[in-house]
Amino acid sequence: MTDAPLNGHALLDFNSPLSDAKAFDLIASLHLGEGQRVVDYGCGWAELLLRAVGQQPGVAGLGVDSDEHAITRGLANVEARGLTSRVALECADVTTWQAEPADVAISIGASHAWGGTKGTLEAMHARVRPGGTLLLGDGFWERPPGARSVEIFGEDGFVPLPDLVDLAMSCGYRLLSLTTATLDEWDGFESRWCAARERWLLDNPDHPQADEVRAVVDDHRDGWLKGYRGEFGFAYLTLARP
Ligand SMILES: C[S@@+](CC[C@H](N)C(=O)[O-])C[C@H]1O[C@@H](n2cnc3c(N)ncnc32)[C@H](O)[C@@H]1O
Repeated sequence: MTDAPLNGHALLDFNSPLSDAKAFDLIASLHLGEGQRVVDYGCGWAELLLRAVGQQPGVAGLGVDSDEHAITRGLANVEARGLTSRVALECADVTTWQAEPADVAISIGASHAWGGTKGTLEAMHARVRPGGTLLLGDGFWERPPGARSVEIFGEDGFVPLPDLVDLAMSCGYRLLSLTTATLDEWDGFESRWCAARERWLLDNPDHPQADEVRAVVDDHRDGWLKGYRGEFGFAYLTLARP
């Protein structure tokens, strides 16, 4: 089902498990300088991009996402934060969207667009200038996955953390910084995802889609708490592209 008529992302600041403090540290790890250009591929509503540009004067940002609702939310924030002269957001498919190689590229939680982590690392290599930086946010296995995790995330595609870093090295990057989502960040992310739907159900108990929404949130909560919690990790790699 689609999320309409509810906005399932309404309570999320980022569409990934990420706290304000870690977002600040990730931006610092990018060492942005005056005149640089950051491109976020699969930016969602571009919260991290907006914070990065807002934190560093003289930096320009470009975000691309195929989700029209997310781009609309992002554009409202660009306006509200007075960043219209420095941030552009476009609704497009990242895989066919053309841009000059960036000083800094960001790809967080969007590796499925490129067929997985390796495809993303390869695509981003061509989209970051030599000497530039990639911030990659992607899943990995904290522990060997159980049946429910495999059902949700698939058998292949994700690897343990050391293998994820090795993969980045083999794709021509060097590791500048690594951090992973804490259990608190995960719980906050999943709770807010569920709470948007629970609050909608409180306000719309008799809506024709209420049963469907309740079933979706029940299934999601089960998958999280009885499946991937503590098994599926999320890593943020700041990578140099020599
Ligand atoms: C998990 S969300 C992460 C969003 C954002 N990076 C963040 O951390 O808040 C993944 C995003 O990738 C976008 N996406 C997936 N495939 C895409 C594609 N082929 N072209 C553009 N955007 C895509 C989705 O629309 C979604 O907004």
